[in-house]
Amino acid sequence: MSIAGFVQGSRLWADIETLAAITDPDRPYTRRSFSERFMLGRNWLVERFRDAGLETRIDESGNLIGRRAGSNGAVGVLMSGSHSDTVPDGGRFDGVLGVLAALECARAFTDAGVSLRHHLEIVDFLAEEPSDFGISCIGSRGMTGALTREHLALRAPWDENLSDAITRMGGDPARLTEPRRSDIRAFFELHIEQGVVLEQERLQIGVVEAIAGVTRLEIMFSGRADHAGTTPMDRRQDAAVAAAHVVSFVHSEARARAASGAGHVTATCGVIDISPNASNVIPRTARVIVDIRVSERHVAEALVSAIQATCRDAASISGTTLARFTIQSDTSPTRCAPELTGIIENVVRENDLSQRRMVSGAGHDAAFLARLAPSAMIFTPCRDGRSHDPDEWCAPEDALRGARVLVDALLARDRLN
Ligand code: GLV
Ligand code: MN
Ligand code: MN
Repeated sequence: MSIAGFVQGSRLWADIETLAAITDPDRPYTRRSFSERFMLGRNWLVERFRDAGLETRIDESGNLIGRRAGSNGAVGVLMSGSHSDTVPDGGRFDGVLGVLAALECARAFTDAGVSLRHHLEIVDFLAEEPSDFGISCIGSRGMTGALTREHLALRAPWDENLSDAITRMGGDPARLTEPRRSDIRAFFELHIEQGVVLEQERLQIGVVEAIAGVTRLEIMFSGRADHAGTTPMDRRQDAAVAAAHVVSFVHSEARARAASGAGHVTATCGVIDISPNASNVIPRTARVIVDIRVSERHVAEALVSAIQATCRDAASISGTTLARFTIQSDTSPTRCAPELTGIIENVVRENDLSQRRMVSGAGHDAAFLARLAPSAMIFTPCRDGRSHDPDEWCAPEDALRGARVLVDALLARDRLN
């Protein structure tokens, strides 16, 4: 039997269901990073890693790592995984599939009696989703030397700084200044597509050639709170009016650029906070967070400039001031390693599966890992492209197919130098 035959769909599915059940009960599926619920999920994962015979540790950034020793560890480490945290009211597969499929691959190698030359490390990266500290991909940033002193000083609403929160997760931020790891030879991340392309084209596997860069802007308008019934329309300093202007511009500008062949372009105002947020009070402040995703770096730069100019106009039109315009986080588009995407494409061909290359509009830990080691991603279809929502769904046969492609790709990479 080939190694893929040792990947058990029922075992993988049972794990997915068990982790899904570890959710805030009133809002499935929610396991926010740094929360008690997240720790419960982590504790369960530690047990599963240990049951699989993995040597388990938390690294300095708070990533959970399970290691299966190789026969010639001197050749280095093959790594695979993703994240177990979720957005609020998220799904059961985003991140989880990549962690649990990698674990299933480790079990399959052991069941098959396959000894890899490389060490195999299965990883659950800490806080891939935007966290309450205002940044995402905390664990993968840490592993790749991209977590700065400024990041570690960021504070969550419950008044804890990121450094202390990583320590609470079992990490050791003081060691983040040590040299980055140099032993990782390849990183593979299996993930649901989170879009409709594979489903619409009736394809079984997506081979990711690039991951969009993510730029997040924080914008704040400051106006004046006044009585909604008595203040004449020409005497207002309404911060919501300024925010509305920006939201509308962001949408139409990104749409126009996407339609004009600028590659992958999306922009979203997913956070709009208005204060005091009362029906009979003119909004005093409005805070907007803009999330920009592009496959071409210069498009992000052009969008940021255009949005900044629009913010100035919006302030002037509404009689408010632009109190803040900051770039919260900014990553460039990432190319996946051609030698690994080539391995994945060969595996897919040899198994008579259908495939296409694609750009990931979603951000992933692989985008940071690519700074440290050759990295690649395998996508599975998901129903209606739904994600970041409880309706997110990956059919069991798609999850199994993805895990089998992953195990074959790991084995093929192990056999090279
Ligand atoms: C991660 O889920 C992202 O925001 O792309
Ligand atoms: Mn996500
Ligand atoms: Mn994800």
